[in-house]
Amino acid sequence: MPLLQNHIAVVTGAGSGIGRAIARGYAREGARLVVLDINAEAAAETAREIRDANGRAESFALDVTRRDDCVAMAKQVADKVGSVSILVNNAGIARRNGMLGAAEAVTKDWEDIIAINLNGVFNVTQAFLESLRAAKGRIINIGSIQSFMHLRTPTSPAYTASKHGVLGLTRALAAELGKDGVRVNAIGPGFIETPLNEKTRAGNPELVKVFVDHTPLGRTGKPEDIVGPAIFLASDLSAFVTGSIVMADGGYRTI
Ligand SMILES: NC(=O)c1ccc[n+]([C@@H]2O[C@H](COP(=O)([O-])OP(=O)(O)OC[C@H]3O[C@@H](n4cnc5c(N)ncnc54)[C@H](O)[C@@H]3O)[C@@H](O)[C@H]2O)c1
Repeated sequence: MPLLQNHIAVVTGAGSGIGRAIARGYAREGARLVVLDINAEAAAETAREIRDANGRAESFALDVTRRDDCVAMAKQVADKVGSVSILVNNAGIARRNGMLGAAEAVTKDWEDIIAINLNGVFNVTQAFLESLRAAKGRIINIGSIQSFMHLRTPTSPAYTASKHGVLGLTRALAAELGKDGVRVNAIGPGFIETPLNEKTRAGNPELVKVFVDHTPLGRTGKPEDIVGPAIFLASDLSAFVTGSIVMADGGYRTI
């Protein structure tokens, strides 16, 4: 029996990379997918791929930074698709600039990254909360190695702050929603080959080597590496797991 039969799952940022892989994985496990992305065409492509594989999926354009749009989307999904029982807050961006660049650029990085990676998680969670509570649902937030640490390789303070924030919000929500039967967990991917880091991989192989040399499993990850943990946290296999972060980082944080 598929692990996510009778579930309706929303995945943000599901037009690419990790989000697309999770959406496809959930569909394989029987869930009906609501594919959301700021890029409508990319979201539609993910939904098409799922339907072509005999899965069930609808796609909608959503910018997670727009709180009112998130509320409107939750209503639209409730009317058109049904009661959502799984939410994956995956939409995110990364930049590799430090604190010491031109003030305007540093400030813009801060505002954009916090708006999408952290406020976006809040906005979408708040919008779908009623449905998730009614369904005794599951929320999975995509954190990072940077939910725990900053990196020596170029990255932005905003990204580290946003992913620490995602873990903090995960714990706060788990504590508050446990009595409603809602479980809230995070996944901490390591270096996963997606369009997010395409330029870095093409232009800066030394940086990738620094990561791989620090990774006990000795390789970068693929989006599919995040799918198993995401299915685990969405399914009844993790019935007593909440407030946790599952690291899928090849062991990066062990050394
Ligand atoms: N790739 C990695 O190495 C890695 C490592 C740790 C954590 N993560 C996290 O995983 C998540 C997914 O990243 P990815 O690597 O698959 O990146 P990606 O760039 O392949 O996909 C991100 C998706 O989010 C969408 N998006 C961006 N801004 C949005 C917005 N405002 N509203 C809605 N959608 C928006 C993009 O259109 C894109 O489809 C992010 O939260 C990222 O921080 C990635």
